[in-house]
Amino acid sequence: MSWIDEAVVYQVYVRSFADGNGDGVGDLAGMTGRLEHLASLGVDAVWLSPCFQSPQADHGYDVSDYTAVDPLFGTVADLEAFVAEAHARGIRVMLDLVPNHCSVEHAWFREALAAPAGSPARARFHFADGRGLDGELPPNNWGSVFGGPGWTRLSDGQWYLHSFDASQPDLNWGCDEVLEMMDDVLRFWFDRGVDGFRVDVAHGLVKREGLPDWTGAPGSSNEFMWNQPGVHDIYRRWRKIAYEYGACFVGEVWVASVADLMAYASPDELGQAFDFHLLVQPWHAPSIRGAVEHGLRPGTAWALANHDVHRPATRYGQAQLIEEPDPADMLASARRRGPVDLPLGRRRAVAASMLMLALPGAAYLYQGDELALPEVLDLPHSVRQDPIWLRSGGSELGRDGCRVPMPWTAEPDTFGFTQAPAAWLPQPEAFGALSVEVQEQEPWSALAVLRRAVRARKGLFTGDELTWLEADPDVVAFRRGRSICVLNTSGRELALPGDWGPVRVSSVPIDGRILPTDACAWLSVAEGGDGVSPSPTPATAGTTKES
Ligand code: GLC
Repeated sequence: MSWIDEAVVYQVYVRSFADGNGDGVGDLAGMTGRLEHLASLGVDAVWLSPCFQSPQADHGYDVSDYTAVDPLFGTVADLEAFVAEAHARGIRVMLDLVPNHCSVEHAWFREALAAPAGSPARARFHFADGRGLDGELPPNNWGSVFGGPGWTRLSDGQWYLHSFDASQPDLNWGCDEVLEMMDDVLRFWFDRGVDGFRVDVAHGLVKREGLPDWTGAPGSSNEFMWNQPGVHDIYRRWRKIAYEYGACFVGEVWVASVADLMAYASPDELGQAFDFHLLVQPWHAPSIRGAVEHGLRPGTAWALANHDVHRPATRYGQAQLIEEPDPADMLASARRRGPVDLPLGRRRAVAASMLMLALPGAAYLYQGDELALPEVLDLPHSVRQDPIWLRSGGSELGRDGCRVPMPWTAEPDTFGFTQAPAAWLPQPEAFGALSVEVQEQEPWSALAVLRRAVRARKGLFTGDELTWLEADPDVVAFRRGRSICVLNTSGRELALPGDWGPVRVSSVPIDGRILPTDACAWLSVAEGGDGVSPSPTPATAGTTKES
């Protein structure tokens, strides 16, 4: 059992959290200054999006030096100070490790560019000759996740592989130097008190031997690029290092099979991996129940949001499509456009967060979701920076809209985010009324509810066992330990059965025993009682009344 197994982890998107030096971009000093917010939320840990030295082509997911902090965010000393201050408040710190690729500005890639084809410097990456008469065609048919081909050609004729942007060359994990370099990176940060890492695209590091053409159906996920068996040797190696420090990992892993996902999350590998099924579900009880079932196992990290998808308040306020997400692009369903009923979406988002917090396993909150912030869908095109936007020629909005800086106060123009006249991305006017300062004054704000929920969670919900309670099919209801979580997606008010005990936390005020629509409540079985039966009698259980 490790602290991370049941942790609430708060993801900080560093450039958008708080600006300490007045340049319009969030940084480590700004974060240190806002640690009280995280302490008052009661989270166990923070995961910082990448803050290593980087030209920021993909906002830090393009690392040019893994043991330096980017000057945009501060220094290694600033990071150490942040870690110390967080630890003083009982908050652990996880960084974001990007091992699949580095930046074209990494010293190794520069060296590789200057070195000839076939040289050891090029062997740290995937360089290859092209096909066609003159090598003018890429070495294989692999595409980039961000759109376009997965290969870029150099002036000397060779091509290099990049699963993402052309500025992010994939490292060759078949090369010992790459393995050794990353061991040193882990130790470097563990020696500085860092408690663990989120591992970026953890299923991507090892490619199919020989880099053959993908022969699956067009549009299907390229099984030669991802989830190769050899990747597990890397994580077993890292586990040994983490063990020396008592450190931990959580993997960003996109694989179709649960058995495969479990291998990444096994205790001798990363120990924890995200299960994204819940994140991509519509507001529909059977779909949500199915996603919970999918992730019920040791090592699951739950998330409803992160820096790659549209915010839940917006997703749940759009028309809900009751369909299985496309397995080749699950995120597409979490990046839809379309009209939004924001008050409804915000209300549902808070309720969904409560459901997630009641589950066994670790729960990850993305910054701003404690305020139920909306996705900013109408950013001017001129300010968009995401490579997805750029590489798709504007046909996809990309991810800038969930990365708009945090509103701390109601004070325009930047709502307490920065002393600069403007933040790096413009914040909408509506952010003022949703700011931390404003929500702190409201007893039923998203912030107030989620503070209560995060604090109550550990006392109420214990153990790994979850028992579904019989209820209206449009209601998700389960018991865990001595408490019950009930989520009402039915569009009707729900009379809470008497034997479900008193309400402890709810996403909206509860009048008597009536759970309104689009709401979640936590109840605990009355003191001295034996607890509820898993299938309460139809006269009480799941009784609904038309509103
Ligand atoms: C992961 C990150 C995403 C990044 C990509 C490439 O999916 O979450 O933000 O762009 O990897 O590193």
